[in-house]
Amino acid sequence: MTTSMKQHWDNVYSSKKINQLGWYEEISAPSLELLSKCAINKGVTLLDIGTGASTLIDSLIEAGFTNIIASDISETALSKLRERLGKEKAALVKWIVDDITNPVHIQSLGEVDVWHDRAVLHFLVEEDERNAYLATLKKVVKQGGYVLIATFSLNGAKKCSGLDIRNYDEKLLVEFMGEEFELIEHFDHMYYMPSGEARPYIYTLFQRKQKI
Ligand SMILES: C[S@@+](CC[C@H](N)C(=O)[O-])C[C@H]1O[C@@H](n2cnc3c(N)ncnc32)[C@H](O)[C@@H]1O
Repeated sequence: MTTSMKQHWDNVYSSKKINQLGWYEEISAPSLELLSKCAINKGVTLLDIGTGASTLIDSLIEAGFTNIIASDISETALSKLRERLGKEKAALVKWIVDDITNPVHIQSLGEVDVWHDRAVLHFLVEEDERNAYLATLKKVVKQGGYVLIATFSLNGAKKCSGLDIRNYDEKLLVEFMGEEFELIEHFDHMYYMPSGEARPYIYTLFQRKQKI
């Protein structure tokens, strides 16, 4: 695990209130919209990469999903989320502290039906980091499984949380995902930070093709 990145994110989550973070959503509406397009039941294995303290997890529990995996490089972020959920709800989630560019635990999860990532991939600016991310994704997402990725769009911010960003549009994400994945749906989404500042995102939904 990259200690400096882990420290960076632990510091971010220790120093700010969750609802003041520049990516806080009261409801993860665009992610839930894409999820509603997937032909899945509530028992599917749903892996969230870089969960942070996202309210998506609250919504998934509320919706009745029973196999949720929340993962993040920051233990502090996940602790804050566990605290908000309370013991009973937190016990319904599997928690993994892992660096997606050098994962130790995610690799051995077995197959997952849904991979969700909002605002994590765009922090991976180096080719080897992107390659490691994709290799892990391909290792765990089953055939027919879904991949939801949301990043800053091409006209979006160039930095977040003091870190450099790699911007995408749907074409760049299609190129990144490669031929094994089919783009099912995509849309632009304007997110407004708690400060009121606009942050344009691109949301994509891919499905892994079945091998014949
Ligand atoms: C901008 S936040 C988004 C959090 C959450 N997905 C959301 O939408 O609220 C980025 C998250 O990715 C996590 N992260 C950054 N680099 C990571 C890495 N290499 N591996 C796993 N998580 C990482 C951070 O700790 C942080 O929680």
